[in-house]
This record gives sequence, C-alpha cells and structure tokens, in this order.
Amino acid sequence: MSRSAHPAGPRYADVLPEGGHGAAPADINRLDRKIWPGGVARDEESGALTFAGADIRELAREFGTPAYLIDEDDWRRRAREWVEAFGADADVFYAGKSFLSVAIAKWAAEEGLHLDVCSGGELAVALRAGFPAHRLGFHGNNKSVAELERAVDAGVGRIIVDSHEEIERLAAIAADRGVRQRVMVRVTPGVEAHTHEFIATAHEDQKFGFSLAGGAAADAVARVLKHADHLELTGLHSHIGSQIFDTAGFEVAAHRLTEALAAIKGEHGIELPELDLGGGLGIAYTETDDPAPVAETARRLKEIVARECDAAGLAHPRLSVEPGRAIAGPPGITLYEVGTVKQLPGLRTYVSVDGGMSDNIRTALYDAEYTVSLANRASRAEAALTRVVGKHCESGDIVVRDAWLPGDTAAGDLLAVAATGAYCRSMASNYNHLLKPPVIAVKDGEARTIVRRETEDDLLGLDLG
Ligand code: LLP
Repeated sequence: MSRSAHPAGPRYADVLPEGGHGAAPADINRLDRKIWPGGVARDEESGALTFAGADIRELAREFGTPAYLIDEDDWRRRAREWVEAFGADADVFYAGKSFLSVAIAKWAAEEGLHLDVCSGGELAVALRAGFPAHRLGFHGNNKSVAELERAVDAGVGRIIVDSHEEIERLAAIAADRGVRQRVMVRVTPGVEAHTHEFIATAHEDQKFGFSLAGGAAADAVARVLKHADHLELTGLHSHIGSQIFDTAGFEVAAHRLTEALAAIKGEHGIELPELDLGGGLGIAYTETDDPAPVAETARRLKEIVARECDAAGLAHPRLSVEPGRAIAGPPGITLYEVGTVKQLPGLRTYVSVDGGMSDNIRTALYDAEYTVSLANRASRAEAALTRVVGKHCESGDIVVRDAWLPGDTAAGDLLAVAATGAYCRSMASNYNHLLKPPVIAVKDGEARTIVRRETEDDLLGLDLG
C-alpha cells in the first residue's frame, strides 16, 4: 500500500536494502517533521522524546507498553484543517474505520466534522458519544436489517446504499416507520487509485458499489426513485482507494460521476444536490512519501467538480469527502519496549518488542512501511540495519521491515513507531491471546486513557469453558 512496497522474499537475505529506508541516515536521532506528530520532540538534555508536552518515559511508566499514544492537539488541528479547507459549502466526514472511540467521536463533533460509520459497532460508538445523528453517514456492502433499522431509528443523516437488496430492505424499513430516509447511491466509477498510480478503465471487479459503465448504477438510481415516498435520493458516492498522493484519480471519478448526474437529469428530470468523492488521501509513513497540503487538495477537488458541472450544465452539488487516515494517522504513535536483540552476523539485527502483528497488522498484510525511533534516549552509536519484530509465534510478525536504529539499542529501551493512529488499533486482534494495548490521549503534558488496556479477565470473560 505504501509507496515503495517491498515484495517479501529472498532479497532480504541481502545485507543492504535497496529500497525502503536506503542508506543509513546522517543523524539517527533526528525526527522527520512530516512523519511525526506535531507535538513530538527530542528533549535536548535527556535525549528522550517528549509527546504533547509529556516525557515519553513517564508515559511508558504510567500506562505500560505497548500503548497507542495520540497527540490530541495534532488530531484536532488536522480535523480543523480539513473542515476549513473544504469550507461551508462542503462536508468532511471523518472515516471512523481508521480509528473510532467515544472520545474521538466527541473530538470529531467538536471540530465540525461529520462522521462516516460502516457497521453497527461503529454506529453504537458514535451514538454513545452523542454524535449528532444527522451528521452521520452509514456505509457498507452488506448492512444487516438490524443495522439498517438502528440507523433509521437513530436518524442517521445519510445511508449509502450499495445493493439492490439493500434498497428494498431500507425502503421497507422506512415505510414501516413512516419516515423518508436520505440515501446516496454508491457507484463504481471504474477508477482505482493507490499512492501515485491509478487505473481508470478497470476495477469494476469488486464487491462495492454499482457499476457506472455497466448500467447497474442507473438501475439503482431508478429503483431508489421508485421508492420516493420513503427514500430521498440526495446524490452519488464513490471511493477510489487509499493512500493516494495525487488527485488525477479523483479527477476521472469526478468526471464520470458528473456525467452520471447529467444522465440522471436527462432521464428523470432531477438534479441531485450532493456528490461524495470518498476518502483516500495519503500520509507520510516514511521520508519518501510526500502528501499534498490539505488546502491544495481541497482546492483542486472543488475546482474539478465545479468545472465538470459547468461543462455538463449542472448546478454545483454540495461536495463531501471522507478522510480517515489523513486525520487520524499522523497524530498517533505506538510505544513499545524492547525485550530482546539478536545480531545476525552479515545479515541484520532483530529487535523484538512487546507487541507486534496483533497491534499493527499493516506491515504483514500490506507490506506497509513505517518509521521507528529510539524513544527513551538519544544515541551516538552507529546506525544498524534493523528489523523490528513482535512477540507472536509467527515469522511474518514484523512491525518495521527495514529500520535504521542505533547499534546499541538494547533490552529495556523504548521504541516509538510513527503514524500508527489509523488502521492499527481499529484492526487489532487478540492473536496468541495478546491483550490489545490502550489508547492514551495526551494534551499539554496531561495524559488520559481513552481506551483502556485489555485484561486477561476481558479475554477469559468471553470463554465459557
Ligand atoms: N470512505 C470509504 C467509503 C472507505 O471505504 C474508506 C476506506 C474511507 C472513506 C477512508 O479512507 P482513508 O482516507 O482512511 O484512506 N485498512 C487499510 C485501509 C482500508 C480503507 C478502507 N476504506 C489500511 O490499513 O491501509
């Protein structure tokens, strides 16, 4: 998924990596500002990291490791940046799948975000937080009847319908309650984008959405309009991929969606008032990733939609976007303690930490790359090519495949892995019955647990013997 994804395999028997982090950095203690949260710095005296005003060694002592830390000010600043960049004539839906808890839903509400949920569980968290239901969007290719009922009863602002069955189910649920539910139709515009590449002709072959090219989207629109008493069609929705660094894929999607809006006007005589381009904006995991500033991205997306609508003679629809990673990723880090170090002569150093693929599956699953730093001290030792691995009984249990860490990294040291705020806690598992780490929000030097660490009682509470 990441820009220079590594194929796993024999080339790692080579001593030096060709890609990834390249040559050893000139200063092993330096923090790259575009990768680390705004509130992270290295204390000049102790050499330890400070996190949102707190000494990271204190955080480790107080909350234990592994732990996910979130720089609250940085999270809120990024949220505001998105809301301001898109302005009053657009809506920014935070994609809760990237990471959602009650506190996070409250921050999102306070910062003016809308919220995108994609399961009954995510909806439950949003409702528990008192998130305004009319600012919720509900996604999913196979929402259950119970989930749909709950969403309609809660007054969810928009449900993004994704199948013919769902349209019929939702119409029946709304009819039963005598309400008119606002819906968008999820379409597949034939664009798939990842990082710097996109493919504009293929990728109809997937479980999400109705195909624009194949006519399924037009059928879905007609079907929703047939239920006009109980379903209010507000617009079209598309999501083209994740960890995207340029807007070319969005441009093609916006073009195709606008064509579809024009066709709907021609066929049904209505102009749909909303258009959602989904999420997917990329972040910097390593120094080679170069995300565009949010303001520029917003300007380009708005320009593209305005231009396409003008060309098609359509009023400008209200635009919405759904960033997840771009808001939640960079403000979060994972803090681990080193337990063992093995130097394999002529190969590399293996540093084992007290978590692993259960708290960050992204390296094993997507060949994702991360940046890691020694957190409890600075070091003058020479950089050593290191693989940071977890404690699971599996050799694919890798946290950072290629890292340059000080050669004197030893048991008891703390390691911080950057940009783990999105899709790490939300994809965590209990593999090997490890306990899921807590999530600690830190602001102005004050730390607060927003999701507590799992306990053995939590685990055994599910086991009925
Ligand atoms: N909207 C929709 C409809 C989506 O399906 C997604 C992500 C988003 C918004 C947010 O995308 P973001 O801005 O966070 O890229 N587990 C993977 C990512 C899966 C994304 C799925 N959908 C990962 O860890 O990279």
